[in-house]
Amino acid sequence: MRVADVDAIKKNHVQINKDRVVKNFTQGHRKDLRFSREIKALRRLSGIDGVPALLAYSPAERWLAIDLIPGTPLPENPAAPDKLFTNLRVVVENMLRCGVARHSLPARDVIVRPDGTAGVVDFERCTLQHWRFSPIWWVARKVTQFHLLRLIDNHAPHLLTPKEQLRLQTCYRLSKAFHRCTRWRSRLRHYYRSQP
Ligand SMILES: Nc1ncnc2c1ncn2[C@@H]1O[C@H](COP(=O)(O)OP(=O)(O)O)[C@@H](O)[C@H]1O
Ligand SMILES: [Mg+2]
Repeated sequence: MRVADVDAIKKNHVQINKDRVVKNFTQGHRKDLRFSREIKALRRLSGIDGVPALLAYSPAERWLAIDLIPGTPLPENPAAPDKLFTNLRVVVENMLRCGVARHSLPARDVIVRPDGTAGVVDFERCTLQHWRFSPIWWVARKVTQFHLLRLIDNHAPHLLTPKEQLRLQTCYRLSKAFHRCTRWRSRLRHYYRSQP
């Protein structure tokens, strides 16, 4: 058994055992919401190849147990095969079709399986689709697709089509502008709060 991650901000406690992973939502911001989101997302994704099956959970104690995805996280696999990213596209497309859009896709949450295909874990920060034409869902879908392209750009840029490269550049610009706005907003808030 190894303790994978006691994150300084989120404070989840993740225990990786031989065949299952136990995740405790012990502390941190909005732990009840994060816990229930992950349960709902895993239920929607049940049966998708590359997503761990939900084995057991306790809402009272805020822990869940899922199947271990054999393999290693992407950051420990600098020479991941192209097949990984092709398969990752399929896993992400399946996720979106099941109505689950991740808010980010860090490399550590992508598992390189022994056969070179992809596993994806950690669904506590996601948007769940509630109705077909929801504008929130539309944005969440675009955000997930942006993170997928960004991850491929970081690890295997040759796999991006020229159209995807263009799309990614536009997304980078939008993301930069968005972060500039949020920085200004927090500066202004700070300024007005400090006024007598
Ligand atoms: N089912 C799983 N199979 C294999 N590795 C996993 C599994 N679940 C989590 N991990 C590994 O543990 C790390 C931490 O788990 P995660 O669910 O992402 O917790 P956190 O919310 O703290 O990031 C993941 O980034 C991944 O590398
Ligand atoms: Mg994670």
